[in-house]
Amino acid sequence: MSMTVIHSIAFLFLTAVSCEVSNYSFPENFQFGVATASYQIEGGWNEGGRSESIWDYNLHQNPNLTDDKSNGDIACDSYHKWKEDIEIVKNLGVDFYRLSISWSRILPSALKGSELSTEGVIYYNNIIDELIANNIVPYVTIFHWDTPQVLEFKGGWLNETVIEDYIYYARILFELYGDRVKHWITFNEPHQICEQGYATAEKAPFKTLQGTGDYLCYHHVAIAHGKIYRIYEEEYKPTQKGQVGITIDCVFGAPKTDTEEDKQAAIDYMEFQYGWFAHPILSGNYPPLMIEKIGELSRREGFPKSRLPEFTQDEIKIINGSFDFLGLNHYTTVLCSYGGNYPVPSHRNDLGTIDSIDPSWKPSAADWLWEVPWGLRGLLVYIKDHYNNPPVLITENGWANRGRYIHDVDRINYMKGYLSEVLKAIYDDGCNVIGYTAWSLLDNFEWTYGYTMKFGLVYVDFESENRTRTPRDSYEIYKKIVATKSLQIY
Ligand SMILES: *[C@@H]1O[C@H](CO)[C@@H](O)[C@H](O)[C@H]1NC(C)=O
Ligand SMILES: *[C@@H]1O[C@H](CO)[C@@H](O)[C@H](O)[C@H]1NC(C)=O
Ligand SMILES: *[C@@H]1O[C@H](CO)[C@@H](O)[C@H](O)[C@H]1NC(C)=O
Ligand SMILES: *[C@@H]1O[C@H](CO)[C@@H](O)[C@H](O)[C@H]1NC(C)=O
Ligand SMILES: *[C@@H]1O[C@H](CO)[C@@H](O)[C@H](O)[C@H]1NC(C)=O
Repeated sequence: MSMTVIHSIAFLFLTAVSCEVSNYSFPENFQFGVATASYQIEGGWNEGGRSESIWDYNLHQNPNLTDDKSNGDIACDSYHKWKEDIEIVKNLGVDFYRLSISWSRILPSALKGSELSTEGVIYYNNIIDELIANNIVPYVTIFHWDTPQVLEFKGGWLNETVIEDYIYYARILFELYGDRVKHWITFNEPHQICEQGYATAEKAPFKTLQGTGDYLCYHHVAIAHGKIYRIYEEEYKPTQKGQVGITIDCVFGAPKTDTEEDKQAAIDYMEFQYGWFAHPILSGNYPPLMIEKIGELSRREGFPKSRLPEFTQDEIKIINGSFDFLGLNHYTTVLCSYGGNYPVPSHRNDLGTIDSIDPSWKPSAADWLWEVPWGLRGLLVYIKDHYNNPPVLITENGWANRGRYIHDVDRINYMKGYLSEVLKAIYDDGCNVIGYTAWSLLDNFEWTYGYTMKFGLVYVDFESENRTRTPRDSYEIYKKIVATKSLQIY
């Protein structure tokens, strides 16, 4: 199917105002889950021998980096309250729990060859065993943005030696937990690791190497991903029989108007914002458009070679097809047209489009998140058409509000609207969507928003020493959706 068809589909939705809930039921084998991430919930930042991650380090140095001058020292205190968390997951009735492991809790010295922390190992052993005892399948993210600071001191994801450190760490996880963990996600959101971490300084390690550091970072992430995928495939999969995927995030880009120019802008947007990450893993290399355009701009800017690194033939062989499932984090959509005034060089300048929104879209409390359910369907169809319909696991989707807001009708509407589009993508478009994960189980440390931004199905009182957890209405609704595998719950 051509891009024109996809974008005319996007256009149909653009004009549809209501988001009626689909009356299809989810397929029998469709899996529902809920997600968290280590630094956002655990706390216990220096307990059990844990060393600082880039978040600990930067926020300890400069509390002003977050809106409320906070950090993850205690967060939801899940380091101590993990059993209570699992009880909440169990009561929700989901098939799986997506958690991430803190590298610096398992390997405080982080480097290849360094020693394990016994207490760190036990912490995740307990969680995994408790999940399995409660019939909840653990889905484990190996890396969710919390690079050990030890590694950042030598350049973090900009230093290719980090690839071997990562492989050492991931292998240890397979050895320790692979008898029980059968679903591994190598990286969460390489786009944000690299762009926000190394180019726009919106996330740790707060670097500003626009148009160079971002590309180099992902180059190393992609190679680390490909290598560990092959290692698992050859050495662990025959006995452990698990699956390995990667979670790529994407804001869907639709054309701003029906002009050919805006349609092309949306195509460029998808290649640069999704293809950058997905294309190497699904098709073996960066999108041809990126290779060409960044090569040309680099030459004009006086760089001796393209700012976009090149994979070797061996690397291409390793990376091409290195997934058993494709994780997808999706929250929102933008409208694309050419233009914008960006630093030179920068990834956004290389892309050359400007984002806008439709004023009718409902804004969330987060300045980047609007409710646009049809965008998820558009994105799922895009993935199906461009990448031969791979199995897609939606690993995050959720809504932001502020305050306690127990009766979170906004979140419920958002979830039902987006899940409804998932059903249409499955039944009407034939997309291979295998599961859905709500972000997030708990209100948590939401990066530079600190504790001001709430994504939880469960409210957490960060003023209370006990970090008291109170399920919101969305928790009860999601519970019904999961139990009935349907949106027809009234
Ligand atoms: C869903 O509703 C439509 C009408 O809105 C109806 O034609 C269709 O049969 C229903 N499908 C199911 C699976 O109930
Ligand atoms: C944080 O902000 C305060 C008040 O604006 C300022 O006085 C302080 O120097 C800042 N600290 C750092 C580490 O930048
Ligand atoms: C990269 O890491 C290695 C050690 O693993 C170190 O010797 C080297 O200096 C680092 N490079 C940079 C640019 O920091
Ligand atoms: C990746 O693998 C596919 C399927 O085997 C192949 O068609 C494609 O050419 C490969 N990509 C590259 C860049 O070699
Ligand atoms: C702390 O939370 C636990 C579990 O929800 C509860 O049983 C206990 O009563 C709470 N303690 C206080 C002091 O609120």
